[in-house]
Amino acid sequence: MLARTIPAAVFARRRRALMERMGPDSIALLPAAPSAPRNRDVHYPFRQDSDFYYLTGFPEPEAIAVLVPGGKQEFLLFCRQRDPQMEIWHGRRAGPQGAMDRYGVDNAHPIAELDQHLPPLLENRQRVFYAIGYNPDFDRQVMAWINQVRAKARLGVHAPTEFITLDRELHPMRLRKEPEEVAVMREAARITTTAHRRAMQVCRPGMPEYELEAEIFHTFLRNGAGWAYPSIVGGGDNSCILHYTENNAALRDGDILLIDAGAEVDGYASDITRSFPINGRFSGEQRAIYELVLAAQYAAIAKVRPGCHFNEPHDAAVRTLTEGLVALGLLHGEVEALIKAEQHKQLYMHRTGHWLGMDVHDVGDYKTGEDWRVFEPGMVTTVEPGLYLPAGGKIVDEGWARLGVQLETELDERWWRIGIRIEDDVLVTADGNEVLSAAAPKEIDDIEALMREGRGT
Ligand code: GLY
Ligand code: MN
Ligand code: MN
Repeated sequence: MLARTIPAAVFARRRRALMERMGPDSIALLPAAPSAPRNRDVHYPFRQDSDFYYLTGFPEPEAIAVLVPGGKQEFLLFCRQRDPQMEIWHGRRAGPQGAMDRYGVDNAHPIAELDQHLPPLLENRQRVFYAIGYNPDFDRQVMAWINQVRAKARLGVHAPTEFITLDRELHPMRLRKEPEEVAVMREAARITTTAHRRAMQVCRPGMPEYELEAEIFHTFLRNGAGWAYPSIVGGGDNSCILHYTENNAALRDGDILLIDAGAEVDGYASDITRSFPINGRFSGEQRAIYELVLAAQYAAIAKVRPGCHFNEPHDAAVRTLTEGLVALGLLHGEVEALIKAEQHKQLYMHRTGHWLGMDVHDVGDYKTGEDWRVFEPGMVTTVEPGLYLPAGGKIVDEGWARLGVQLETELDERWWRIGIRIEDDVLVTADGNEVLSAAAPKEIDDIEALMREGRGT
């Protein structure tokens, strides 16, 4: 995987900003992600905890970062010791000295000495910031250290009295991407759009879904990236399963294919979906649904800009989709009433976007108090409307339902097995937005042309 791309000075700047937000007499504790066993001696590929990585850039498990604003040493790290034998078997370790030399750590200790060093660091600190409640083992460990400090009360030592979830100070920082983060996300989007283009070019009826999954992963790997989440490659009815990851069916001539796949580069995700016809040509029904989702996506993207709030893209998408579904005869009734009754949820059951960053569904509040958060430059959201029409799908008529009559109509067969989602990664800029994933074609003519090119026809 790509080596660290964000300079050490950026991590130092983030730690300083966080410590200013925390204020004096405080301390922050951040554990690295645990390494998860898969079976016997095999572990899942290690992926660092996002908060920990955001502040340290340190890639190893079995580590704890400690920030002590105003302390003689403000950034402490507990990590694994160098061990030639273990490193021969399992790979290199920085060790405490390497952590100080290469990661801007003021003082590093072996992780085995944690219980010895941590309680004194908590003495006479009033506020403890950490991700309370996410890791029961770490919760217990923190409380044990606190109790050790409390036991020294008669010696005049004060134990911390305030426990604050670190999210409160750290996640607003992660929500607004710095230029260095945007650059990495741009690279993740570049690699992902390359992968989507390749999938469009090589797709043929009869292929198994996993063959395209492999093509996508091939592009990620040979660009030094990994995946941000397991790829969704679903043909026909599988395109209507929102988080389908079995990816083991044969792709059928005449069906639609939905691919939701994103590369992860140096801890940052992309999250892109394209839907296209397996045989390279949209049928009339596929075209109608596709054009509608695309119109909804354009309407939603237009609402991603400073001054608009987080829910405006969703509202815009729902309005466009509802109007279009009525025009196609798939929903019946008056548009305003259908919107109010959320009838689109029968065919569009998820929301239009989520924050994107180190986590695919990234941190950051969607509301401030009662109000939706207003977009600011540097925020990145996905915009991903969709419509899902499975075989045998049924629609309940809302007008009759209100009158207490359950009138359910089955979708006409010509609409079956069409699942369309179009998902882009959108950066809020000073005067609007930038679609980071624009290089993956989404206009019907462009998709069909690329697929023709792939077939040499
Ligand atoms: N890939 C998950 C999502 O689109 O939210
Ligand atoms: Mn997605
Ligand atoms: Mn998404």
